[in-house]
Amino acid sequence: MLLEISNLTKHFGGLTAVSGVDLKVDPGEMVGLIGPNGAGKTTVFNLITGFIKPTKGEVKFKGKNIVGQKPHVIANKGIGRTFQLNPLFADFTVLQNVAASFYLHPKSSLISAFLNLPGYQRNEDYINKKAKEILDLLGLTTHQDELAKNLPQGYQKMLGIARALATRPTLLLLDEPLGGMSVGEIEFTMEIIQKIRESGVTILLVEHNMQIMDIVDRIYVISFGHRIATGTIEELRKNNEVIEAYFGAQIIDT
Ligand SMILES: Nc1ncnc2c1ncn2[C@@H]1O[C@H](COP(=O)(O)OP(=O)(O)OP(=O)(O)O)[C@@H](O)[C@H]1O
Ligand SMILES: [Mg+2]
Repeated sequence: MLLEISNLTKHFGGLTAVSGVDLKVDPGEMVGLIGPNGAGKTTVFNLITGFIKPTKGEVKFKGKNIVGQKPHVIANKGIGRTFQLNPLFADFTVLQNVAASFYLHPKSSLISAFLNLPGYQRNEDYINKKAKEILDLLGLTTHQDELAKNLPQGYQKMLGIARALATRPTLLLLDEPLGGMSVGEIEFTMEIIQKIRESGVTILLVEHNMQIMDIVDRIYVISFGHRIATGTIEELRKNNEVIEAYFGAQIIDT
């Protein structure tokens, strides 16, 4: 088991955003997390990555409880993520954005960059080379010198994935990676996500676009903070509770 979440619960004042959620991801799997707006999906990601602390429950990564650890510590352990609303370094270029993420890794600390310690220049050349490899993989090379804030939304999403990959994750959490993309961009991004998965990265993803749910191994459905179902897309399409809570009438027609 790579990721094991048990009884995860988060209250925001009187609001229960996540309630007793259990979820497991095995190494090499690609798992979907779906549910209506406000169901608690992003909150689950924030709880896994240490951006917020759970009211109750456990998050185990590689068998160890990581609850209470800081986001950069969890990132260093191998959990990378993208954000639903891409917090990029808006005034950095595309290349600088990706290079900056490499510094999250303990072997290339920002402190040695500031102190200009021996080996730093070599390290910087290495980081730029690696960052360019990621940009190449994601089709961003021609945009590498543009400011992040000037990119169209689809490319900003892709840059978010590039930044997450630069932290060299074992587990990658993608929060609505297809959000705001054109049809062509969606197709391309789905291919990229497949490639990332084939390279050995385990993926947990949130997405409202059901196209991508056809290529995941399993899906968890949450509604009002509760896990209401888990299974393959075929199994969920037959599940009345899921149809009622999430798919609505459109799925019955498909
Ligand atoms: N920091 C916070 N403080 C207070 N309430 C919050 C906070 N973050 C999330 N919530 C609330 O928790 C609930 C779950 O929100 P969350 O963002 O996890 O939903 P979601 O499933 O990601 O929805 P969407 O599909 O719209 O992205 C919502 O009611 C939201 O308003
Ligand atoms: Mg969300």
